[in-house]
Amino acid sequence: MSAKERKKKSTAAAVKDRAKKPAATAVKEKRQITAKLIPIYIMGKRYEVPEGLTIMKAMEYAGYILIRGCGCRGGTCGACGTVYRKPGDYKLQVALACQKTVEPDMYIAQIPFFPANRATYDFAGLTAAPEEVFKLYPELFRCVACNSCTKACPQGIEVMDAISALKQGNIAGAAQLSFDCIQCGLCTSRCFGELAQYHMFQLARRIYSARIVPRAEHLAEMVRAVNEGRYDRFLDELKQAKEDDLKKLYEEREVEPMAAGEDWKPKETRYL
Ligand code: FES
Repeated sequence: MSAKERKKKSTAAAVKDRAKKPAATAVKEKRQITAKLIPIYIMGKRYEVPEGLTIMKAMEYAGYILIRGCGCRGGTCGACGTVYRKPGDYKLQVALACQKTVEPDMYIAQIPFFPANRATYDFAGLTAAPEEVFKLYPELFRCVACNSCTKACPQGIEVMDAISALKQGNIAGAAQLSFDCIQCGLCTSRCFGELAQYHMFQLARRIYSARIVPRAEHLAEMVRAVNEGRYDRFLDELKQAKEDDLKKLYEEREVEPMAAGEDWKPKETRYL
């Protein structure tokens, strides 16, 4: 057997092995789950899954191994955009698979990747002029203000308002309105005008943070201090510390309170 054939054989065995493990786990979980089973349809195929599961967990329960369309599992990475329709309802719904729980007779299909138009640009050459956005995304003006994008947003962002801000040249407004965007692309999947809102907003936020927001002086000062070697000795101490000492230091560190004011300072000022 040639080296190439051997490699092919071992890769095939590894893939087979990997496929076996989650299935075994799913069987074990099935035995332990006592919740009521409800029917759902994944990609048109019927499955019975315990009620109360998220779409993502229900898919895994049904035997799907998610290598795309699954990331943080906590509603923040935007990887698990999903469409579904409920019986007797003409309307196609959208959701994040890791957040939405299954309902009886739901028809589900995931959209792990949405092939939206994303402009290519050299950011170093971009200014804060609204025309930069207009040039890169001329389809911005195809927006018909139907508000489907806002209705589709799992983050509750006023997507259409942010698009209107961009059309008016208000990059800062678009950046602020879209701050919670997780780039799931569900807005784009429902857009009549074929806009890739989430890519446009990402550009707006980049321009806003790099060209519009005043520079943070305290940050610049800290970068300067790091470059001047003010922390070298402390970093060396940390690098040489034993694992248990590091853990202790971490656990006993002074944490900034949630509601601390702008002028909050730690008691230990050695590192400032
Ligand atoms: S897996 Fe990250 S948002 Fe759902």
